[in-house]
Amino acid sequence: MRILVTGGCGFIGSQFVRMALAEGHQVVNLDKLTYAGNPANVAEVAAHPGYRFVHADIADPAAAAEAVAGVDLVVNMAAETHVDRSILEPQSFPMTDVVGTAVLLEASRRAGVGRFVQVSTDEVYGSIAAGAFRETDPVNPSSPYSASKAGGDLQALAWHRTYAMDVVVTRGSNTFGPRQYPEKLIPLFVTNALDGRELPLYGDGLQVRDWIHVADHCTGIMTAATKGAAGEVYNVGGGHEATNRHITARILELTGRDARLVRHVADRPGHDRRYALDTAKLRALGWAPAHDVDTALAETVEWYRAHRAWWEPIKTGEYRAYYEAQYGGR
Ligand code: NAD
Ligand code: DAU
Repeated sequence: MRILVTGGCGFIGSQFVRMALAEGHQVVNLDKLTYAGNPANVAEVAAHPGYRFVHADIADPAAAAEAVAGVDLVVNMAAETHVDRSILEPQSFPMTDVVGTAVLLEASRRAGVGRFVQVSTDEVYGSIAAGAFRETDPVNPSSPYSASKAGGDLQALAWHRTYAMDVVVTRGSNTFGPRQYPEKLIPLFVTNALDGRELPLYGDGLQVRDWIHVADHCTGIMTAATKGAAGEVYNVGGGHEATNRHITARILELTGRDARLVRHVADRPGHDRRYALDTAKLRALGWAPAHDVDTALAETVEWYRAHRAWWEPIKTGEYRAYYEAQYGGR
């Protein structure tokens, strides 16, 4: 297939680009290169004959129209993705995650793209005290990020209902692995622990997330893209629930640090207590996660230990200003 991946210089997008090229597809990667977009994430495929990079914004109609021409499949991963940034500075979130999605959908419809996959998140469902969310559950987002992502999902599903466009939505759970920008829990705590810096744990640390390795998230997206039915939503969850305290304790163990590094800080406003996904629908298409989360977490810590040259430059400049705004007075 000729695949347009948006956000392919980010964490999950770059894994998807590498996977798709390895499977023999041709890939156009359209990315705005925001603070989270890093060309180093795709450096190893930059010269691949089946790969092309387009530096553009998905919300730019002309750039979107140019990028979707001749494409069989669009996988829209481009997004503002960090809940805490959406609380500090919400403006960019609906611009990319709602408006950008609508612009890309319309460009894809006009170009006759075969299928459009909207990559979304379990956060659109909100928090669940017991059991697991199914695809038929209503969206009930808590943060400006998850509200924007829910808006993107609704745009995509509306294009299916109104124009009979072939659209599939995936909703993934908390993802971890190499090349994740060090603002999210695992890469932040791993890199801080490696440097002997404090780990700022929100509230009581008993919030629960459903963790999945990035490679499993990408095979889940590809399964939904190639085997899913038009107009359907597919949950992509690892099925590995853990409290933030548990993840923190494991990171301390794996980095050889002790609990004195943990600093309990004020909770995140509107903090969702627990996420959990029922993935029976995607599993019925033959998908299952291949990575044991605890083993993959140990491998991820080793990746960050071995790749200081990847993350040390990131933790300067704009990042330091963000870190001070986010944690300074907390
Ligand atoms: P990321 O923040 O690492 O990367 C996002 C990428 O999108 C960056 O390369 C950035 O430059 C690009 N981008 C941002 N705005 C853009 C725009 N307007 N036009 C073009 N490119 C733009 O994100 P990620 O963690 O890899 O997430 C990828 C997708 O998966 C997102 O849609 C996110 O909502 C979803 N998701 C993420 C997780 C997770 O735990 N990380 C879980 C479920 C779903
Ligand atoms: O569930 C999928 C979502 O997972 C994705 O859609 C988002 O793009 C991604 O950012 C992630 O959202 P979370 O808010 O769950 O992830 P984050 O890594 O920011 O936080 C995970 C948990 O850890 C959450 O309960 C908040 C807590 N946390 C996070 C940070 C950054 C802390 O206690 N301290 C921290 O410094």
